[in-house]
Amino acid sequence: MRRKIAIGNWKMHGLSPQLGEAEALSEQHPDPACEIVLCPPATLISRMWELLIGSAISLGGQDCHPAGEGAHTGDISAAMLADAGAEYVILGHSERRRDHGETNEQVAAKATSAHAAGLLSVICLGETEAERDAGRTIEVVGDQLSGSLPEGASATNTVIAYEPVWAIGTGRTPTRDQIAEVHETLRARLVERLGDEGDGMRLLYGGSVKAGNAREIFGIPQVDGALVGGASLRSAEFSPIIEALEAASA
Ligand code: PGA
Repeated sequence: MRRKIAIGNWKMHGLSPQLGEAEALSEQHPDPACEIVLCPPATLISRMWELLIGSAISLGGQDCHPAGEGAHTGDISAAMLADAGAEYVILGHSERRRDHGETNEQVAAKATSAHAAGLLSVICLGETEAERDAGRTIEVVGDQLSGSLPEGASATNTVIAYEPVWAIGTGRTPTRDQIAEVHETLRARLVERLGDEGDGMRLLYGGSVKAGNAREIFGIPQVDGALVGGASLRSAEFSPIIEALEAASA
């Protein structure tokens, strides 16, 4: 059984006052039937960790450098994230692929570094609207999967998130069939490459997940949870998504 997981990606949002949202979320979900992870900006991780000691919420970073340490001004290593209290790290998000030109090879190198530091990597894949319109979705996400998944990836150290670029922050979501097609393809490729580990690896959907569409999305076969951006910033919006996932876990 793959344990369902809801991951909140705060992106470049969150100052000290927003720590209260994490605290409220932990109070609303003291004993959740799924895993809950918050990925605040790196500046808030250690304070959030202190605030959440004893809670059911885990923390993650939003990126890490592939090197263990070194002369890389402004970058953060996987070990630093772990030291701050993170257990997860999002890698290869489309905003990083776009803003920083991250390639599949770099994402795989970052994931290797994350695993060496004991972090779980959340590897993001997804097609642009132009790629979908050109009928290239399966080819694009298939290439991203094979290029971004590092050697040694397993069900215990890696989670995959399918996030169509055109659905992120837009309020648009793919149809049930579109999500199912990609998730079933990803599952088949994972099993082909990793056998049982590929069967056990969690596959998340991300892109405009909200309270209003969560239940339907979580009912799609092979969807093991969600990577949530905008709706994870406020506990009042994230909480009903978590409840929908708990219902799907039952
Ligand atoms: P969104 O972002 O939920 O705001 O669309 C999802 C993501 O980018 O992880």
